[in-house]
Amino acid sequence: MQYLKLNDGHRIPANGFGDFQVPDTKECADAVREAIKTGYNFIDTAEMYDNEDQTGKGIKASGIDRDKLFVETKIWETNFQYDDAKNAIDKSLKDLGLNYVNMFLIHWPHGEYDQAWRAMIEAHQAGKLKSIGVSNFSSQQIVDLIKKFGVKPAVNQIKINPWDQKHDEVKWLEDHNIVPEAWSPFAEGRHNAFHDPTLGKIAKAHGKSNSQVILRWLYQRGIVSLAKTVHPQYMKENFDIYSFKLTPSEMKTINNIQ
Ligand SMILES: NC(=O)c1ccc[n+]([C@@H]2O[C@H](COP(=O)([O-])OP(=O)(O)OC[C@H]3O[C@@H](n4cnc5c(N)ncnc54)[C@H](OP(=O)(O)O)[C@@H]3O)[C@@H](O)[C@H]2O)c1
Repeated sequence: MQYLKLNDGHRIPANGFGDFQVPDTKECADAVREAIKTGYNFIDTAEMYDNEDQTGKGIKASGIDRDKLFVETKIWETNFQYDDAKNAIDKSLKDLGLNYVNMFLIHWPHGEYDQAWRAMIEAHQAGKLKSIGVSNFSSQQIVDLIKKFGVKPAVNQIKINPWDQKHDEVKWLEDHNIVPEAWSPFAEGRHNAFHDPTLGKIAKAHGKSNSQVILRWLYQRGIVSLAKTVHPQYMKENFDIYSFKLTPSEMKTINNIQ
């Protein structure tokens, strides 16, 4: 596993496993346990996914040492008021069965998210949240948050894939020492992602799949990726992105897809 440095001194694994839309049943616990067995040490979940409980069960069942695992979750907008946010942080920890999470994000910049940020800063100082960040924020919203509280988010989790590349946003985040994370790296399978012929040609040249090429392209751009699958064979595939390297010309070809 490769890591990226965060602006608060911690580090973050470069590719993670996301469990959005995995139902809060044994299916979720099994998927999380299987992902960790595959080698993933980064699990991304959210209060809104309504599966933190089974995510926690999967983590426990995996038997992985807590200090070897990076767990990220997010607060939903219905809990952005200060007192609600404090309770929501504690509830996420309780549901996950953890004393702390490695990264805690504001899921979307809707409503009074600055109240949640205040509660998150306090929970960060109390050691419950090792790092704090945002998701789906514009650069202006990040600037405003920093101006108001003097605390910079460690990451911004945004949608990035070959059909939505966000080069300007990623450059802005890098310039401000904020790690970009990519959600929906496969565009949830839209745009013929797993069979796109341009990606397919590059994949064939390396004996890899389209999904591996996409995740490798994100990695080489310095972006953390979060991929979701409930199938163990896809987990293995999506985790194996360090055994090949895209050439500058292949990177350029993918950059021209959108
Ligand atoms: N912050 C946010 O607002 C936000 C929004 C959306 C997502 N996210 C995060 O990002 C993660 C990933 O995004 P996503 O779930 O929207 O979409 P995604 O990872 O782009 O795509 C998931 C889809 O691709 C399929 N798939 C995965 N690997 C495959 C492979 N190797 N070959 C063929 N099919 C494959 C999965 O199928 P199967 O499951 O059937 O295998 C699933 O249908 C989420 O789980 C979540 O953690 C965050």
